[in-house]
This record gives sequence, C-alpha cells and structure tokens, in this order.
Amino acid sequence: MATYTGGTGGRDARTTAADGGEGAPGGGEGIPGGAADGAEGAPGGGAEARGARRDEAVRAAVEQGLVGPDRPVAGLLDVAGVRAEAAALRAAFEAVTAPGTPVLHAFAVKATPLVPVLRLLHAQGVGAEVASPGELALARAAGVPASRIVLDSPAKTPAELREALALGVAVNADNPQELARLDALVRSAQPRSPLGLRVNPQVGGGSIGALSTATATSKFGVALRDEGAREWVVRAYLDRPWLTRLHTHSGSQGMPLELMARGVAEAYALAEEVNARAGRRQVDTLDIGGGLPVNFASDEQTPTYARYARLLARTVPGLFDGRYGLVTEFGRSLLAKQGLVLARVEYAKTAGGRAIAVTHAGVQVATRTVYAPGSWPLRMLAYDAKGRPKQGPDVVQDVAGPACFAGDLLAEGRALPRLEQGDHVAAPDTGAYYFAHHYGYNSLARPGVYGFGPDGAGGVRFVTVREPQTLDEIVAESGGGDATGLTDAF
Ligand SMILES: Cc1ncc(COP(=O)(O)O)c(C=O)c1O
Repeated sequence: MATYTGGTGGRDARTTAADGGEGAPGGGEGIPGGAADGAEGAPGGGAEARGARRDEAVRAAVEQGLVGPDRPVAGLLDVAGVRAEAAALRAAFEAVTAPGTPVLHAFAVKATPLVPVLRLLHAQGVGAEVASPGELALARAAGVPASRIVLDSPAKTPAELREALALGVAVNADNPQELARLDALVRSAQPRSPLGLRVNPQVGGGSIGALSTATATSKFGVALRDEGAREWVVRAYLDRPWLTRLHTHSGSQGMPLELMARGVAEAYALAEEVNARAGRRQVDTLDIGGGLPVNFASDEQTPTYARYARLLARTVPGLFDGRYGLVTEFGRSLLAKQGLVLARVEYAKTAGGRAIAVTHAGVQVATRTVYAPGSWPLRMLAYDAKGRPKQGPDVVQDVAGPACFAGDLLAEGRALPRLEQGDHVAAPDTGAYYFAHHYGYNSLARPGVYGFGPDGAGGVRFVTVREPQTLDEIVAESGGGDATGLTDAF
C-alpha cells in the first residue's frame, strides 16, 4: 500500500573568455564516441558563418540607425540561425528515432517569449511549451495550434487547467493535488488534451543550483525516490486510463548531459513499469523536457542536439524504438546563440586606474549576468562608432550598464580593445533569457528587438520583432492612468 502523500503540504580572439565554468564547450560532460559537435552543417549553422552574419548585422544596425545616439540599445536576432538550429534539432532526433515515431519539439516559450519568434519556429515545425497564461496567449497569438502546445507550469490555477483542456492543449500535472483537479475536470467532460504527470527523478543537480530541477528537494513534479512515491505514481496511472504521458525535465544550463540522460532513463523505466502493470501501452508518450546547455564561451554551438540525441539513444535505446511518442522542450539551446544585445558606449572613463565603458546594456537586458556574473558570464565584442569590429591592443576594462547601482556591470575586468565614447559593444548569445526578459530597474525602457537577414542586394535587412517601449508606455504601465488614485482615496 503506497504511503506517499505527494507533499500535501567567432571573433573570440578579440575577447577574453568568460571565466565561469558552466558555459564551457560541451557542458563538461566528456561523452565518448559520436561525430564531432557542430557537424550538422545546416545552412546558417557554423560558428564562422554566425560570427560573419553578426558582424554584418552590427554594422548595418549602426548604419541604419537602429542603434545610435537616441536609440542606444537593441536586441538583434539572426533569422537564418534560428532556422538552422530548428533544422538541427529535428534532424538530430530523426536520426535516432524509428521511422514514423511521433515527435513534437515544443520550444520553451519562457526562453524567448516573442510572438514573431514563436511563429518563425512554428513555421520550422517547432511547437510551444508554455508555463503560464501569458505564454499560452503568446503561443496562440503566434498561431501555434493547441495540438502542438504543452502546458507545464508548477502552479496552474483551476481556470488555467480548464482552459487548457477546453483548447485541447497537452497538460503535464505537477503533483497529486493538480492531478485531483484534473480528475474533476475529466469527470465533467472527456478531455481532448493528452494528459501526463511530471516526475522528478532526483538524479541530482548541475553547476547552477537555481536551474537544477532534479535535486532531492526540487519544487517540480512528483519526487520519485521519496518513500512510497513510485508506487503511488504507478497506481495513479492504473487508476486513470486517460493518463497517457510521462514528463521529466532535469534542469537547464549547467546540467551535465549524462545526468539529463539519466533522468530520462528513470522516466522511461517508470513508463515501462506502468505499462507492464497496466498490461497495455497506457503511457504512449514521453516528454523529456529541454535543458541542453549552451556554450557561452565561443561561437561554437556545443554541445549539439545530435550529440545529446545520440547519448540518449545509447542510454535509453527503448525510448526510440517506435513504441513511444516523444516530446522535447528545448529553449535556451535553440535561441541563445541567435541573439545579441548591441549597445552604444555613452561614456568612457577611468576610476582607480580601471577603464570603464558606460553603455546602455545592463541589468535591464542581462539580469542574470549582472546579479550572478559567476554563473552567467557573457562574451563582450567591441565595435567602433561605425559598427566595425574594433581593432587595437587589449585593455582591461569594465563594461558597465546604465542602471544606478555599482554592480550593474555586463563584464568586469575584461580585456578588450579600448572602448571609447560613441563605440559599440555587443553581448552575443543573448537570444534566450536575455533581451526578451526585460527587468524594469530605473524604469529603463524595453529595447527594440529586430530580426535580421539578407536584403537580397548584398546588405542586411531588419524586421521589427518588438518595438522599443516608449516613455508614454512606461508611464501608463506604472499607474500613470490614475495618478491621483492614492491621494484621493485615503
Ligand atoms: C519544464 C521545462 N521545460 C523546458 C525548459 C527549458 O529549458 P532550456 O531553456 O534550458 O532548454 C524549462 C526551463 O526552465 C522547463 O522548466
């Protein structure tokens, strides 16, 4: 009898490599065998090509005034890079799955919650993993059909669950209490949504605690190794014939690939156990989450999807033999390397012998880097006033942001060609969890985000993904519509 209660209660020569370990190529996992990373070779892929496109885009952004004295910061998105990475993801899993296996790659919307980006990915055959009503609304606004959306958040309200089921969006329940809510909804109407349960395989964490979701005490999912939990989960499935999916996501940046694969293996073993006890293929789909780490130290896209897919195929061969459908939920690895933040250097000064470039990119666009620089180091690329790669001897300098606190630094003590007033600095690898994640410190405006690609005449064309926030919008979003509300009420 189960006792589990579910807790009812490219141009890297010009930069100094970032010194945190998490972004190391390959994520530090040392997997034997397999072709070299970066071998997928889809058009638009490749470190050199990515760097070249970036340099052209920076120059064009300055020339075309997307970044200039009155618009000192912007996010730029490499559309060819997005397409190439989506193709690499699809190809990686196609190479290891039995023909005809249903596979849904659902982009973790939290990584880049921008509607045109979701649309672009949808056009590349990538759906959406959403974790809030806002993200669901964005996916729907992008035209992603309900059948290609998965809802995963750890704190879904009854109304959110009802809406998801009404739409036919797949739902992964987080815990026994949520499962009880699903019970009630399923009793009132036969759901069209595929429904699953998230489990925490408790295989351990990676180098960034805040992003490690498979620790013993993680808040996510049913903690599988807790006393009685496994039997409780099996019974939960046997009692609910409509529970057909099983979900796990062991963590994100900083997770060794082997640990992620071990988490998937645990989920697979559990699915096998459920199906054996049920005497049928009740669990028909495994949702293996996302979490592929990103290399923040160079333009190389490592580790690759191909490498991870091969590792999974070696670790959990039964997952790919056609008996299970697959869902993946990659976020950072799809978009990070496709984006950069470009900012103008407003002032160049010195303090205590340290050169400091005061720019317009800081905590509002790179929140994690500013507050946790050891875990989230970013490369810095120097460009001159015309947006050309800056040459010259390296000088150790700080790259500071515009916010009014001393720690607002994009990089500290970094060796770069000396940045001067009117120059530009780019932070690459910021297409996920950076420029789309505005932090409103000092009421700094959300910068515009622009997708770039060839203009057909040898130049670069930009398309607006998100308009820069206006001062009127800042005032309106800050209660400006009812300035006297407090003074009049009391
Ligand atoms: C359930 C789930 N799936 C997918 C992701 C995406 O992870 P990543 O962006 O590292 O691929 C996350 C990240 O928080 C998550 O919680």
